[in-house]
Amino acid sequence: MSLILWTVIGYLLGSIPFGIVITRSLGLGDLRQIGSGNIGATNVLRTGNKGAALATLLLDTGKGAIAVLLARWAAGDDAAMLAGAAAFLGHLFPVWLGFKGGKGVATFLGTVLALDWRLGLAACGIWLVAALIGRISSLSALVVAALTPFLGWWLDGGRMALVTAFMAALIFIRHRANIERIMSGTEPKIGKR
Ligand code: G3P
Repeated sequence: MSLILWTVIGYLLGSIPFGIVITRSLGLGDLRQIGSGNIGATNVLRTGNKGAALATLLLDTGKGAIAVLLARWAAGDDAAMLAGAAAFLGHLFPVWLGFKGGKGVATFLGTVLALDWRLGLAACGIWLVAALIGRISSLSALVVAALTPFLGWWLDGGRMALVTAFMAALIFIRHRANIERIMSGTEPKIGKR
C-alpha cells in the first residue's frame, strides 16, 4: 500500500511544471511558444531571465530529490526508488498539461542525487564538463543519460542500473528533435535561441 502511495506522491510532485509556473508568474510569456517549446530551465534561459532559469533548474531538480528523500524517510529504499522514477515520469507526463511535459533532465539529476549522492554528483559533474566543452545543453543531457546507468551499475548494482537506464531511455526519446538538430549542426548553444 505505501509503495503505491509513494509512487502517487512522487508523480504529483514531479508533475509540477515549475518552468511554466515561474515564467507565467513573471509575465515572461508562454514557454511553449518560446525557443524549443520545452518547459525546462534551458528553455527558460531563452527568455533572457537567468534568475527564472536558475529557479526552474533548482525546483525541477529539487522535486525529484524531495520525492526520493520523503519516501525513503517514510517507507524505505524501495519506496524511494519508485517515488523517484514516478517524479521523473510526472515531469514528462504531467496531468496538468495534458500529459505533455518536459525532457526530464533536471528531475533525473535530482532523483539520482537523492538515491545515491555519489552517482548524482558524478552525473552533475559529467553534465557540467560536457556543457563547458560543447556548450549545448541537450548534448550534455544525452552524455549524462548514456553514462549514468553504467556508473549506477558500478556503484550500486543492477537495480540502480535498471532504474537509471529506464529514465535514460525516455530522456533519449524526448530529445529526438534535439538529436536531429545536433546532427545537422543547428542545435543552439546554451542561452541562445
Ligand atoms: O534539459 C533539457 C535540455 O536537454 C534540452 O532543452 O530546450 O534545448 O530542448 P531544449
